[in-house]
Amino acid sequence: MIKIAPSILSADFVNLERDIKRVSTADWLHVDVMDGCFVPNITIGVPVVQSIRKCTDMFLDVHLMIDKPVRYVEAFAKAGADLLSIHLEADHPTRIAEALKLMGECGVQKAVALRPITAASAVLPYLEELDMVLVMTVEPGFGGQAFMEGQLDTIRQVRALIDRYNPACRLEVDGGISPKTAGAVIAAGADTLVAGSAVYGAAEPAAAIAALREG
Ligand code: DX5
Ligand code: ZN
Repeated sequence: MIKIAPSILSADFVNLERDIKRVSTADWLHVDVMDGCFVPNITIGVPVVQSIRKCTDMFLDVHLMIDKPVRYVEAFAKAGADLLSIHLEADHPTRIAEALKLMGECGVQKAVALRPITAASAVLPYLEELDMVLVMTVEPGFGGQAFMEGQLDTIRQVRALIDRYNPACRLEVDGGISPKTAGAVIAAGADTLVAGSAVYGAAEPAAAIAALREG
């Protein structure tokens, strides 16, 4: 089943609780954490995730766009994240493995994320233990960017690896997803779609969520 995860990066932060409730028909809530180092932007931190946890029961899909994420796994898990995605480019492989192990110990679901430059095969050393792989279809850092068509190949390749080595693993796609691009992304093998501007920029977020689900 296709899951839709609205990204609150496009929400009105002054009215965050209201904007979280506006997407309550979605499956997950996508929370973009940026540190100004791994990506040029700075967004949400641990205290905000803690506050979000208090105002919704939605599954919190926390996308860590931060350097050396192993340092913050425990803090985000305690703050109430249900799943953490860490970028494979954000640390050495041994420290990525360490971060994933820590996620298991903290009881959160484990995902790795790929920048557009990263090959699908980079997930292989971790794939069997993952709950999800996140393929970026824009350069991480900002909402509202154009979908990178070339990433459809990476989605197909990751789908083939998941089917072979860990069929229960989800495949999430993030960046430039709209009712126009959702169909191609689902056809390429994605089962979880993040959407920021397409949901929050719509007059009726619930209708945009339904349109994305249709593909
Ligand atoms: C970008 C973030 C995305 C962003 C997507 O670095 O990871 O989650 O919010 O925004 P849209 O859907 O507007 O491309
Ligand atoms: Zn994201």
